[in-house]
Formats: sequence, structure tokens, C-alpha cells
Amino acid sequence: MKSAEIRKKFLEFFQERGHKIMPSSSLVPENDPSVLFTTAGMQQFKRYYSFPDEISSARIATCQKCLRTGDIYEVGDESHLTFFEMLGNFSFGWTRKNADLTQTNAGKSYFKKEAIEFGWQFLTEELKIDKARISTTYFAGEKEIPADEESAKILEGIAGLDEIKPTGFSETFWSLGTEGSPGGPTVEFYVDGIEVWNLVFNQFVLREGKYQPSEFQGVDTGMGLERLVAVIESKSDIYETDIFLPIISEIEKISDKKYGENKREFRIIADHLRSAVALISDGVVPANKDRGYVLRRLIRRAIVKGRQIGINKNFTADFFEDKNVKTELENEETKFRKTLENGLKIIETQKEFSGKVLFDLYQTYGIPLEIVVEEAKNFGREIGSGEIQESEKLLRQHQELSRTASAGMFKGGLADDKIETTRLHTAAHLLLAALRIVLGADVSQKGSNITEERLRFDFNHQEKMLPEQITEVEKIVNEKISENLPVEMEEMSIVEAKSSGATGVFDDRYGDKVKVYMIGDIENPFSREICGGPHVARTGELGHFKITKEESSSSGIRRIKAILE
Ligand code: GLY
Repeated sequence: MKSAEIRKKFLEFFQERGHKIMPSSSLVPENDPSVLFTTAGMQQFKRYYSFPDEISSARIATCQKCLRTGDIYEVGDESHLTFFEMLGNFSFGWTRKNADLTQTNAGKSYFKKEAIEFGWQFLTEELKIDKARISTTYFAGEKEIPADEESAKILEGIAGLDEIKPTGFSETFWSLGTEGSPGGPTVEFYVDGIEVWNLVFNQFVLREGKYQPSEFQGVDTGMGLERLVAVIESKSDIYETDIFLPIISEIEKISDKKYGENKREFRIIADHLRSAVALISDGVVPANKDRGYVLRRLIRRAIVKGRQIGINKNFTADFFEDKNVKTELENEETKFRKTLENGLKIIETQKEFSGKVLFDLYQTYGIPLEIVVEEAKNFGREIGSGEIQESEKLLRQHQELSRTASAGMFKGGLADDKIETTRLHTAAHLLLAALRIVLGADVSQKGSNITEERLRFDFNHQEKMLPEQITEVEKIVNEKISENLPVEMEEMSIVEAKSSGATGVFDDRYGDKVKVYMIGDIENPFSREICGGPHVARTGELGHFKITKEESSSSGIRRIKAILE
């Protein structure tokens, strides 16, 4: 069975069981500047575990492209990948009193029993994996979270499933781990001792660092396609499956070397280029910061590994058809090769690797840290963790310098220029809410224009604002910034948005669902506006708000210019 067939079988299996098949979302999460990449199938559905009535189907299945860079140093062994496809089935809005619910999705959702049975059925009946090869684990309980006895009982009731093991939090509890994320105990399916499928039973929500019982329960499962294919093809090496063989044999041709003798280099090249292509296809371009920096490191590491197996000319674009992908790879490789040899010579002859030397090797020669560490090792020299940390610090400082000097540290990642605009965008929402307090609730937005440097905001008001009104508006906005309020988004119908009191432009440009951004307590937010985003995660990221100008724009319309400093 080939990978394409397995992917198809999975989606059809769940479609036959009432699931709506939805497309993969982008590797670059929408409206979420705090996360770099999509790392799990449930990410695009996160919100529906709390608001199940907003999704078009209580049962969904997807094949989601994912990128996880946490294991990047493990890549090179038999099974680790940075990019992979995750097969998943999802259920939303389950409660133990489904019958009482008025929600449209009630009754169609499911929880542990069906999820476990679907999993077992798919593996043993659809894929015909021998039952004796399959084992499972469930959550044994840890700290204040009780054991998942319910799953244990369901597993025990399955004929032919002989191995059921209780395990701890790190194996059988899953959540994205960010504030507001659903989470819960899991059941894992293993084949020949290799973990293939993770069934998450969302019955908690992470609030202020604690898992609190959630109003609704739901299911989120994830099964790595590449690993599953390896298991089915009975290959211990994921790179020997039909997913990777074409790229492996292409590397053999280009390098005139054999995979069997250079496994580690081949695997890193294959994995990294596959990830690079997926990122470029989703609009990421190589850069010195953020997502672009991850992409750059993947491409450059593939090039250095290529050099180690004797490839000394541009090759990264040779594997791919897409013109945009080819151009990006070609440009990045040409740029890197200009300085690569000189940089490698320095690594070869360098006696001491201080943090500054490591940093300069990237700044001047474009060689990312992990490559320096690996190359130096090839010449028998270890680089200490202190030096690595020092160089990472220098790099971060350098990256931050390219932002407005007074900008607050952006949580969860390195900022790029666009973040300035995002911060001002969130500030504009605070500004409108403050204007409505100071000038009256009939004030609405009549236009805005936001650049990295400043925001320009037009609104209806007859007179020139008084100096004390301007001061009052600034004071309110800065108070809300200092309260570090959360910014949350909900998707809802226009009718719901209107009745919730959201401000914003209600016109036909919007689809039937609109995004409503709330700043502050979700029950009673300070600001509630229809908007496409993006926004910062918390107002504390904004800095100090200052109105630099208040003037007439046209008859009955005032214009404010403001900055964050
Ligand atoms: N969301 C389930 C997983 O990533 O395993």
C-alpha cells in the first residue's frame, strides 16, 4: 500500500462515518503572530472545542501539513522529520448530557468510545494490521489530574487487544500548552512498539497555567502519515518508504554516492529540502528572522550536508518543478555559496570559538550556528554551551536592533517588521474604544491607515477635540496597555457579531462568518470589533501610546495620528 492510498483510505474511512473532510491549513497559522508554524492538525480548530456550535460539522477529518523544528537535531536517524503530514479526526461539542443541548452539532459529536473504536477498526480492518502487533497506552493519572479509567475500560473491552499500559503525563496527556488551549488525556496506538496514533480527549482547558474542566468535551487525533506508511511497508527506516525514495534516488544521482553509505547526510538533505519546499509554497521566504530564518537554516544545512557528500554546485532546486520554489532555492543557494567556502576555512583553522566568533560566522559568512557546531566537530573541536548561548544572545540582540528601539520583547518568537504594524493595529482598537468613552458611543471608525511608524485613524465627530479629551483618551489607552489584557478572536455570523455589540463595518465584503477581536475579559471586553486581524496576543506588548496629531479630515470627520513609543 502506497502513501497516497493510505491517506485516501483514512479520509474515506472517516467520511463514511459522518466526518466532513476539510483541507489542510497553511503551515503559517492565520491571525496568530505568537506561533511560528502549524504543528498539529487541531490548531485550525482550536477555538471550536470551546465554541462547538460555530463549526459547520461536529465531525471533521483532515490530512494536515505540520512543521516541528523542536527535533531538528534528531533528524538524520531512522524516524525523525521536521515536516510531516498528520492524519486526524476531530469531534466537537460532546457533553455527557447531549440530549439537553440545543446546539446544532449536539448528538453528532462523539468522545472516547467511538474514537477508540474508530482507531482500532481503521488499523485492524481497513489497514489489516495484525492485532498482535498493536499495543496501547492510556493516562494513569498524575498530580491533580485523575487517571483515565474510562479509556482503560474501553480498551479492555476490545477483543484481540492484549497490551494496555498505563503511562504518565508526558506520554499520555496532550495540549498545545498555550493559554486557552484545550487538552486532555490521550490513548496511544503503537505498532511493533512504534507510536503511530495519538488520540487526545479534550476535557480540560488551560487557564492561568492550570487545566480546568471544560464545558464541552472533544476528540483530537493525530497520526503521522510517514510513520504509518513505514509501519505498513514494514520498513524501520522512514526514508525507505515511497514518500522519500524519489528524493533519495535523486540525491544518489546528483552526488554519485550511495544512500546506504551516507544515510545521515542523505536523510538531512531529504528532510530539510522537503520542509523548505513546503514553507516556500506557503509563502515563507529565506530571511534573517522569524519563519524566514528557520527556512534559511533548513536550506543551508541541506547545502552543507550536500557538500559533505561531494556536491559542490547548486543542487537544491533540481528536485522540484514549481517555478517559485526553484527560484527561491536557487537564489538562496547562490547567495550562500559565495561565502560558504571561506566560512568553512575559518571553522577549519579557528582555534577558539567564542560567542562572538560564532555570531560573526553567521553575520559575515552566512553559516548558521548549528552548522558551525557540526563542522567544528568534524575537525575534532567541541564548542561549549556557554559560547553557543553567548552567540544566540548576540544574534537575538542583532535581530532586535532592527526593530523600533523601544519595542517590548515579543512573546514566543523573534519579531519582524510587520509586528510594528500589528501592534499599532491593536492600538487602533483600543483607541476607538477609548474615543467612544470620552466622546460618546456614536463615534465610529471612518477609515484607517497603519504603517510601521504610526497609525492614522478617522472617525465621526463634529468639533475639534479639546486638549483634555486627547489626554483622557491617551490615559485610557495606556491604562489598558498596562493591564496587559488578552486579545482573543472569535469567528461568528454577522448577526451574532451585531447582537454581541461588536463595532466595525458590517457590509457585504465579509463572508457569512466574521472575525471578532476582543480585548480584555471575554465576557465583558473593553473592545469588541469586527476585524480581519492580525493582532498581538496581549496589550502589554504595545508600549506607550501617544497621540501626535488631531485634525480635520473632512466635514464631520476628525483624524488622529498616533504612535507607540
Ligand atoms: N494533536 C495531537 C498530536 O499532535 O499528537
